[in-house]
Amino acid sequence: MFREVERVLIRREEIERRVGEIADALGASLLAELHEDGVEPDDARIVLVPVMTGALVFAADLIRRLPLKLRLELVAVSSYAGATTVSRGALLAGEMPSDLRGARVVVVDDIVDSGRTLDLLTTLLRERGPRSVRTVVLLDKATRRAVEFAPDHVGFEIPDEFVVGYGLDFDGYYRNLPDIATLRPEAVRGPLAEDPSQ
Ligand code: IMP
Ligand code: MG
Repeated sequence: MFREVERVLIRREEIERRVGEIADALGASLLAELHEDGVEPDDARIVLVPVMTGALVFAADLIRRLPLKLRLELVAVSSYAGATTVSRGALLAGEMPSDLRGARVVVVDDIVDSGRTLDLLTTLLRERGPRSVRTVVLLDKATRRAVEFAPDHVGFEIPDEFVVGYGLDFDGYYRNLPDIATLRPEAVRGPLAEDPSQ
C-alpha cells in the first residue's frame, strides 16, 4: 500500500457490484424516458458527460455496464487548487459539449461534496436545450453541501473524510488505487495542503 494511505473505506469488489446496480438503475430510468417519449433506444441521442479527471475510472466501468447506444463528451472542471483538500468553488476549464439540443444528458462524476461542480455544470448544460439532464456520482458527502444539490444516482454516501482511489486524487496522485481509501491526516494536513496564495 502507499505510505500516505490510511485505510480502505470501500473495497474494489464492493465498488464493482455497486457500479453494476447504478448502471441497471440508470439504464432503466433512461429506457422509461424513451418509452414515454415514444423513441426507440437506438434512435435516441444519449450523451454521457464524465467530469475529468476524477470520473475517468468510474465512467470507464459504468459505460461498459450500460447496454445502450451512447456518446461520450468529456468536460473538465477544477475545484481544488493543487494539494488542498478544501473546495473553493468550481471553475469550468475548457469547452462545453456543443449540439446537445434534444439529447438525454447524463453527467458522471466521482463525488459530490459542496455540490458546486455539479450545480454549475448542470446549469450550463441545461442552457443547451437537452431533453433531460441526469447526474450520477459514485460517492456523496451529503453533509458537506454548500449549495442545494441532489444527484439522481448515488453509489455510496460517505462521511466527511478526504478519500482517494478509483479515480479520486490527492494533488493528482492515487487515482490508480483500485479501492477507495482515506489518507493519513498528516498527509492531508501537511505543509503541502496549505496553499497561502488561495
Ligand atoms: P464539489 O464541487 O465541492 O461538490 O466537489 C466535487 C469535486 O471535488 C469532485 O469532482 C472531486 O474531484 C473533488 N473532491 C471532493 N471531495 C473529494 C475527496 O474526498 N477526494 C478527492 N476529491 C474530492
Ligand atoms: Mg472532480
